[in-house]
Amino acid sequence: MPDTSRVLAELGRIDTFFPVLSVLGNRWAATRPFEGLTVGLHLHLTTLTATIVRELSLGGGRWICSAANPATTDPGVVAFLRDLGVEVYSGGGIEDGLDATVEADPALFADVGFALGSRLVAAGRRPRAGVEITRSGISRLRAGAPLPFPVLNINDGRLKPAIENRHGVGEGLWQSYTALTGCHLAGRRVLIVGYGAVGAGVAAYARSGGASVEVVDVDPVRRLIAHYDGFPTPNALDAVRRAKVIVTAGGVRHSLPVALLREANDGAVLINAGHGADEIDVEGLEAEADAVDQVGPRVVGYQLAGGPRLVVLAGGNPLNIVMNSGSQEPVLLHFAVLGLGLEWLATHNLPAGEVALPPELEARAAEVALSVLG
Ligand SMILES: NC(=O)c1ccc[n+]([C@@H]2O[C@H](COP(=O)([O-])OP(=O)(O)OC[C@H]3O[C@@H](n4cnc5c(N)ncnc54)[C@H](O)[C@@H]3O)[C@@H](O)[C@H]2O)c1
Repeated sequence: MPDTSRVLAELGRIDTFFPVLSVLGNRWAATRPFEGLTVGLHLHLTTLTATIVRELSLGGGRWICSAANPATTDPGVVAFLRDLGVEVYSGGGIEDGLDATVEADPALFADVGFALGSRLVAAGRRPRAGVEITRSGISRLRAGAPLPFPVLNINDGRLKPAIENRHGVGEGLWQSYTALTGCHLAGRRVLIVGYGAVGAGVAAYARSGGASVEVVDVDPVRRLIAHYDGFPTPNALDAVRRAKVIVTAGGVRHSLPVALLREANDGAVLINAGHGADEIDVEGLEAEADAVDQVGPRVVGYQLAGGPRLVVLAGGNPLNIVMNSGSQEPVLLHFAVLGLGLEWLATHNLPAGEVALPPELEARAAEVALSVLG
């Protein structure tokens, strides 16, 4: 039997320092919005998920949870949720858990990647409504046939880009950089490639650490915003020649092509803060390197033939995600919106199709967060 004491300790820490979800749970315990309803959840079974499910289940109803990924399933969380009376499907394959949840015919559901939603559609089920949490799930549901039930899109609100993309990544990325390299940021020349919410956060946190930061972006509007935020916006070649640390934050393939990297400083460190593993052309570096050396865990050096030696962190994967670094507050906020979304769907009848996030739900989540932050 997995030990739940670690999960309980983690929940205690969250309740002490950022109790947004327990504030909401107190209200759900009083109003019981899910009484009489079956709710299916297809989520990563982490301690953060345990926090939101604990609070939601105070609001009544039958709760069924299937694990979104064996690799992200915490056995302690599974045991904790079962102790609460939640039905959890985490053994066998992902498909088995989804089938069991579909079989229960949920009235409401919450999903990552629209895996449960598409299964409900295929099985001819007609839940009252669902919530989709992720960008990939929203893309998937838009690509499919017209939805036969409403699905609330909580990915495209105002809070997520402003808090998670900007502050979550900005803070977590530099914590990871220091953990892997042992380096301070102070006095270092940092280049940010892409100045959306992620790039702006990474730039701001680098500056607050004492770095000298420059920005390149293909979009002149974003360059102008970077300028007024106080960052020089030179052309990419000049910027790469100056930088000692280069961070991709554009979410596009090969925004750092190997031809440009040949111009970089000897010893420059390359980090990705965006999506996937192909923003830095690591394959190109491998192909053109005379020598490749493992400097340390997740730190690899590439000596380009006749060019600089470049150091890539985490194989070019998004560094903060690989290192699981940074504060949990952005995810807990997103889960607050998820819970408020389920509550709203339990009390509203909506037409089929994608439903935009009502601004009042984010406003309520923000008010609760501000109240716990003092
Ligand atoms: N690491 C994480 O934990 C994390 C969290 C949230 C989002 N993301 C990912 O980070 C990426 C950026 O997110 P965002 O919200 O800032 O997106 P965004 O679209 O607002 O910003 C991307 C910026 O990059 C610029 N850009 C695109 N191609 C470029 C190029 N070749 N050179 C220079 N600039 C270029 C764009 O003009 C834009 O200004 C996305 O792929 C997103 O999925 C990562």
